[in-house]
Amino acid sequence: MELVAAADSDERGLSLLKVVNVLQKVVVFVHTFTVDKLRSQLTRTASEEMPHMSEDIIEAKVREICQELVLSPEVLKEVCDCLQEEINKGLAKDSHPEATVKCFPTYVRELPNGKEEGRFLALDLGGTNFRVLLIEFSSKCRMDSKIYAVPQPIMVGPGDGLFDHIAECLASFIKERNLGNELLPLGFTFSFPCKQEGLTKARLAQWTKGFKCEGVEGRDVVELLKQAIARRGDVQIKICAVLNDTTGTLMSCAWKNRNCRIGLIVGTGTNACYMEKLEKVELWDEVIDDPPQVVINTEWGAFGDNGCLDFVRTEYDNNIDSESVNPGKQLYEKMISGMYMGEIARQVLVRLVSEGLLFGGFASDILLEKGSFFTKYISEIESDKSGDFNNCRAILEELGFNDATDADCANVRHVCECVSRRAANLTAAGVSVLLNRIGEESVTVAVDGSVYRFHPHFHNLMVEQISQLVKPGIKFDLMLSEDGSGRGAALVAAVASRCAAMR
Ligand code: BGC
Repeated sequence: MELVAAADSDERGLSLLKVVNVLQKVVVFVHTFTVDKLRSQLTRTASEEMPHMSEDIIEAKVREICQELVLSPEVLKEVCDCLQEEINKGLAKDSHPEATVKCFPTYVRELPNGKEEGRFLALDLGGTNFRVLLIEFSSKCRMDSKIYAVPQPIMVGPGDGLFDHIAECLASFIKERNLGNELLPLGFTFSFPCKQEGLTKARLAQWTKGFKCEGVEGRDVVELLKQAIARRGDVQIKICAVLNDTTGTLMSCAWKNRNCRIGLIVGTGTNACYMEKLEKVELWDEVIDDPPQVVINTEWGAFGDNGCLDFVRTEYDNNIDSESVNPGKQLYEKMISGMYMGEIARQVLVRLVSEGLLFGGFASDILLEKGSFFTKYISEIESDKSGDFNNCRAILEELGFNDATDADCANVRHVCECVSRRAANLTAAGVSVLLNRIGEESVTVAVDGSVYRFHPHFHNLMVEQISQLVKPGIKFDLMLSEDGSGRGAALVAAVASRCAAMR
């Protein structure tokens, strides 16, 4: 009985075990089914709503992607050291031929004293427009000028076509103003890298800023201008000086400001000139007489063309360079100036869209077009008061985005800020190198160009950064130079005639 009972109880135990087993399987099945269902639901939700990450996550990702445009103080210090080295190479006889930062002596050795007098003509070629000016100095400076467009086919056509166009504009200006009977001295601002061989002789080293006229590189541009004027035969002119826009900017500011030693342009292109002691200019072939100084046109736009800036360049800079008319050239300029800043921003925006971080992952056809995001958009977007996106929204609408969210606008603004801050910091690094070289206690930097003029924060960003990089004890200020390329050309011509008269 006991045995039976025992057997009975064993059997009951076994059945119980079987039940528990089955129950366990049911539970596992139900559990697995539920989890799988949930996972598949989550996956489905995630893939369907992929672009809808939280705004915080999107913002963090945007910032992470833009981080490579942010230059640390250490990196900027390294940029300064490299530029200092490149300037030394440019000024030294042996290394000059291979140097990228050419540091051409300009033959301008005296600054104006504010007492210049007389009437002058000036020509200003350097961007998409060309200007002819009539300038009169007495105690004041009076100016009359006319702007002429340089059509794109002329910018990339034969050199003779360009100089014929300049001569035609000059002739029509002289006729319109009835100046035909006077032989006015003329200053020619030609804002491209030139090896100067005197105050009235400048050989074009290479075209920049979208110009590519055949038959001009290696030639004296004053001679080409004279030939074009002679081909017409209807006007007489006396060319007294050829200069770069940076020199004009320096002269124009120095006319009233005694401390001015540096001329800087941040516009379509970028470049700087500064007053250097002749003893530091090995390239100087003439006698070292008084004053023992000369304005050096650094042509710093070409800084980095030997690869020394590769540690700061990004994929966007590489793309812009390879799609330009002068690949491998003007690499520092391509990170800074107005001709390229908008396009850098556009490339970053397109990348953000492709990663689903902007506009719900959809790009407009306009945004995908090269050159559609103008540099002026950066200034306009950054002019919005913080938290307000009026300009930003209007620009995005122009680009085909009619329902950008506030978060989209904030992220677009962040991209613009990173691009313009990088440009301002790199320019500041360059200016600091020049201030440290000059080593005077107090120096005024004359500045011109559309980026500096119209960007709402460029000036302040530069001042902040230069203060970090300049040697202790050096004071500086950045001064907007009014119409350097025009008034400066006349001043170089005026100073040249004053010096000639004194000799
Ligand atoms: C040119 C310089 C000029 C600068 C600003 C650069 O592309 O090489 O000569 O000063 O643009 O206009």
